[in-house]
Amino acid sequence: MDSTSWRSESGEPAPSKLSPVDDRLTADTALRRVRRGEYLLYTGDFHNAKQLVGAMARRLPHPPAARSPLEAFRAERRARQLEHDTLSRIVVALDREYRLEVKRAPDVAEACRQVWGKPEADRTLVSLKTLLGMLGAAEWRRKGLAVPGLEGKLHPHYGVYLPTRTDYVELLLSVTDVKGKQVFDVGTGTGVLSFILLQRGAAAVTATDCDSRAVACARENAERLRLSKRFQVLETDLLPPGKADLIVSNPPWIPEPPKNRVDRAVFDEDNRFLLGFLDGLAAHLNPGGQGLLLLSDLAVLLGLRSPEWLDEQLAQRGLVVKWKRSAPARHGKAKDKSDPLHAARSREITTLYGIVPGAPVAG
Ligand SMILES: C[S@@+](CC[C@H](N)C(=O)[O-])C[C@H]1O[C@@H](n2cnc3c(N)ncnc32)[C@H](O)[C@@H]1O
Repeated sequence: MDSTSWRSESGEPAPSKLSPVDDRLTADTALRRVRRGEYLLYTGDFHNAKQLVGAMARRLPHPPAARSPLEAFRAERRARQLEHDTLSRIVVALDREYRLEVKRAPDVAEACRQVWGKPEADRTLVSLKTLLGMLGAAEWRRKGLAVPGLEGKLHPHYGVYLPTRTDYVELLLSVTDVKGKQVFDVGTGTGVLSFILLQRGAAAVTATDCDSRAVACARENAERLRLSKRFQVLETDLLPPGKADLIVSNPPWIPEPPKNRVDRAVFDEDNRFLLGFLDGLAAHLNPGGQGLLLLSDLAVLLGLRSPEWLDEQLAQRGLVVKWKRSAPARHGKAKDKSDPLHAARSREITTLYGIVPGAPVAG
């Protein structure tokens, strides 16, 4: 019997039943059917399938008006989740060579191999929405991304946090005392912060990430940028063993539960990452060393943290902010007035904190 592999980014179980559909299906009927719990296997034309998914998305309800930024934020997250749950029920099949079993299909084999490795089953089933995301990511990976302050391009992998907002990268560029330093980079993602510090003269970086895709991505990019001799990356939780002169981190910045794998780059349930980073900082710093923490204040603007919260956490751990530099958030959404969170996002500020153990240092 033929083997089938079901791929889901959010761990949804394989559908027990798939109903074949084709180009005759309208968006309204598709929505009715997936709302009844059906999974629909698209067997028609690729471009029609894409249009169907787009038309279904446009028919989904908008988040209701909210009385507070936090309510708006949570409503938007629920709307995104509903969109995901709905649209991921439009499924496509790939054969043993990762060829899409629909008409006018593009070549998706390389994008699939990049994310899943060699085909293991005779047939792979995946939601069209996920596959489109993988195709977009493969294009970024092929073309590369220019990042201010980085010599050479970054080639991000699917599912790894993309440094498209540049505010925090530019803040790191303002750190001058880097030459010859041993560095840890906690939650390295693509490795971008490590590479910037290495190119500016850091002696070596040990980076960590809990996600295997980030680890593979950072490793490959270090090779491309010819930095791999001074860069190692470990798939581990939070800090690596040993000590460093600089410990940099751009942690997930919103203390809410992640809902899927990629969410772990942004959502830090119960502040576990941030507090774990602060808990480990002093013990992992060489004498005279410092932590470099990049943090947006969106959680404060949403009311998820009080304005004093970070200072209190630092004080409880005997840590001191030696200096800090801030920049307004410069991502696309900060300017998008139709975004229900515009009021909060337009005021968002990212700060780079230089943190040291012990008594306050003058200046
Ligand atoms: C906001 S992203 C920052 C990525 C990169 N440093 C940058 O600035 O572009 C946070 C990263 O932390 C990683 N991460 C989340 N939880 C972690 C944990 N417990 N230990 C290590 N890495 C973690 C995520 O996978 C993600 O790559």
